[in-house]
Amino acid sequence: MFDLKIYIGKQKKIIDTAMHKYLARLCISERMRQPLSYSISAGGKRVRPILCLAAFEAVGGNGDAVLPVACALEMIHTYSLIHDDLPALDNDDLRRGQPTCHIQFDEATAILSGDALLTMAFEVMSEAGLQASDREAILWLQIMDIVSRAAGCRGMIEGQARDLAFEGQSIDRDNLEALHRLKTGAMIKAAVHSGGLLGRGSSDQISHLISYADYVGLAFQVVDDLLNVKGDPSKMGKAVGTDLTRKKNTYPTLIGLENSESYAHHLIDHALKSLAIFDKKADPLREIARYIVRRDH
Ligand code: IPE
Ligand code: IPE
Ligand code: MG
Ligand code: MG
Repeated sequence: MFDLKIYIGKQKKIIDTAMHKYLARLCISERMRQPLSYSISAGGKRVRPILCLAAFEAVGGNGDAVLPVACALEMIHTYSLIHDDLPALDNDDLRRGQPTCHIQFDEATAILSGDALLTMAFEVMSEAGLQASDREAILWLQIMDIVSRAAGCRGMIEGQARDLAFEGQSIDRDNLEALHRLKTGAMIKAAVHSGGLLGRGSSDQISHLISYADYVGLAFQVVDDLLNVKGDPSKMGKAVGTDLTRKKNTYPTLIGLENSESYAHHLIDHALKSLAIFDKKADPLREIARYIVRRDH
């Protein structure tokens, strides 16, 4: 029987070890290594890199070729949280159970730490491409293309910009869905897509993986919205009730708690259906999808 807890523990260890190795090698002094290591060690769930590894496995990928992109995705995600918490954005003091980077250090350090992590992500991927065979190098270019689109103005950054621009004004459900797909869905989709590509999935497998990730990505943010209303801050390691205070557009505000919960389940059912063509190698992806709706942090 597949045990998700053991699986997540094992994958987390692999990712964390690799991330710390990158930090040790790519930062030239303690000045930046210290805040970066602080933010990375704070203990995120590592959902994006784990999804990336699981998609790689689902299509029969073997070995650690996927590790650079898995780490790059977590670096970008960690940077996005450091910046998301800044006073100019969501102004949060607590993240991953610890003072946010700008509280622990200062705002300038938090801004630079984000810049450093975003840049390092692309350094790690281009390095992997340069070390690969010609054929694989093209694949790495494709992956960098996917990740940069997901992280930038056609993805997460556009989502963050809309999230802030729409504070205090209510948007309709289509616009909320679009916002969540950009803000959170895009990076989750890039994680699954890049894992599938590096695992040499067929085009049919890749399109099913993308469909899975589309559902999971939206569901992930719907659950984040729900936890902001009814979660336990001591489990989540971040404040709750803040979406309401900041007049954010969320699913619970727009359609209510119960409807949001059933919508998240509905999305996960669809995600699981998208995996119907896969054998048991996709069980980690299946279990991660189920975990995403039942998570409490
Ligand atoms: C929080 O992401 C921000 C969103 C995009 C919803 P996670 O819930 O994955 O945060 P960590 O990485 O576990 O801290
Ligand atoms: C963060 O979204 C999404 C990012 C792209 C960083 P939120 O602002 O809703 O996430 P939390 O609740 O602070 O983790
Ligand atoms: Mg935000
Ligand atoms: Mg926030």
